[in-house]
Amino acid sequence: MSKVKVLFVCLGNICRSPLAEGIFKKMVLERGLGELFVADSCGTAAYHIGNHPDGRSVENARNNGVDYDSLARQLSLGDFVEFDYILPMDSSNLRNIESLAPAEFKSEIIKMRYFDQESPDGDVPDPYYGGTQGFQNVFEILDRSVNSFLDYLIEEHKINLN
Ligand code: 4NP
Repeated sequence: MSKVKVLFVCLGNICRSPLAEGIFKKMVLERGLGELFVADSCGTAAYHIGNHPDGRSVENARNNGVDYDSLARQLSLGDFVEFDYILPMDSSNLRNIESLAPAEFKSEIIKMRYFDQESPDGDVPDPYYGGTQGFQNVFEILDRSVNSFLDYLIEEHKINLN
């Protein structure tokens, strides 16, 4: 089976989407599925290209048992060919992605919180200008959403769990 490729997208690629990527990769490894998935993240904006994730987000995630790192990059046209799933964090990211999408592309674009049973129509709020509690809130939302997304992928791609 070819690998399932997933791309998490936010605005700056320093707060929400790198954390979603980090949580996804950790959960995939915990379930022994490391060979089956490729995960990456990016931003719709160019502000933070080349930057590591926001230190507040990294510290909060570490307190929750998730260690991750990445370098910010901007969404590109090639992503619509490369990735099977594109997961915008909020409605604004979704609109930006749709406006950039070529006429034909293979990716399925699904808002991240579609997989959050507590708020399937909701957005993952941008924590950048807020306080510590905002980062914990984002962590908890992504922890739930990414876990259910992975369940969905396992079912959708008929992945055997040993
Ligand atoms: P992110 O958060 O989209 O979750 O990475 C933001 C990071 C930076 C900015 C906005 C949101 N900014 O305006 O620089």
